[in-house]
Amino acid sequence: MATPSEAPSMFDRVKQLPIGQGPAVHTREVDFFGKTLRILQDPDWLGGSVWDCELCVVKYLENLDAFPPLFFRGKRAIVLGDGTGLLGICLGMLGAECWITDLPGLIPLIQRNVQENASMCKIHIAPLQWGTDVTPFRPPFDFIFGADIIYLPETFQPLSETIRALAGPQTVFYLGYELRKKSDVQFFDLLRPNWSLVKISNDDLDPTYQDPNIGVFRVTPKSTLFAQPQPPAVAIASPDAPTATNQSSPRGASGGSTADPTKQQLIASRNPQMKTAPRSPAHAEWLIQLAAPTSPPAGDRGASHAQRIIDDIY
Ligand SMILES: C[S@@+](CC[C@H](N)C(=O)[O-])C[C@H]1O[C@@H](n2cnc3c(N)ncnc32)[C@H](O)[C@@H]1O
Repeated sequence: MATPSEAPSMFDRVKQLPIGQGPAVHTREVDFFGKTLRILQDPDWLGGSVWDCELCVVKYLENLDAFPPLFFRGKRAIVLGDGTGLLGICLGMLGAECWITDLPGLIPLIQRNVQENASMCKIHIAPLQWGTDVTPFRPPFDFIFGADIIYLPETFQPLSETIRALAGPQTVFYLGYELRKKSDVQFFDLLRPNWSLVKISNDDLDPTYQDPNIGVFRVTPKSTLFAQPQPPAVAIASPDAPTATNQSSPRGASGGSTADPTKQQLIASRNPQMKTAPRSPAHAEWLIQLAAPTSPPAGDRGASHAQRIIDDIY
């Protein structure tokens, strides 16, 4: 069986291009509407790599039935936990006025990627830690986006409050979710009373950029959401406060074991069409840390099991 570092990936056209004198930064090329985007990655940050889930959402944006030309033109969008900034760059290219956000440590990488790929687009970049005050972003937004942001139970409550605070009655929230742990359903339990969730059919996703472990959801507010007063945001931190615990801290801060054979096997056994191939030893470590302990091993039974869990969410 191929080890994660040898695993082929149809996603990858990764070139190892050292940039400047700093730590190795790798460039990933992503085709979007015929333009090749060159996304710099910094594997020392969890969000510093382009994750498969983000690619699924980005390639879904190419579905012209779902998003006809001009669909996003002049609309206000915000992307939460955007890591490298890829998704926000694509929304900017489609004409949205887009806020790209993540924890403060990712902001320089996002700035470079926007500069490289979308300097002419109407894109704003700002740190946003979930649970903090969002009034500077002037909500409500037409669209909220997030890919692969559901993985840390301690962030579920602040994240749901941030989404609530950014939304208005007409807001549509597109969420790319990769199944990692069964406990992730707690986040969906928080949403369900006041939001409607519809899973986008895999037929409508890009045929290559999809995986049984990944679901893209269209989430819209129920009228009940605005019938009740805003809950007080818990644990409001100032925008200058240190970044959240370890979710995007430099590599090594969050522990995890690369020696866990079960997790390594889970990564190696993923659908090869959707495998996130490690871009570096550091990224391989992140992949292993985030590997879903509830994911079943290889095979069709595994794929359908994951699909069932995701289907059960909505
Ligand atoms: C798995 S990465 C996904 C990055 C990007 N969306 C992608 O899919 O390529 C999760 C992202 O969520 C961000 N994140 C985690 N906790 C956060 C928090 N409390 N507030 C804001 N962003 C957070 C991380 O910094 C990271 O960029």
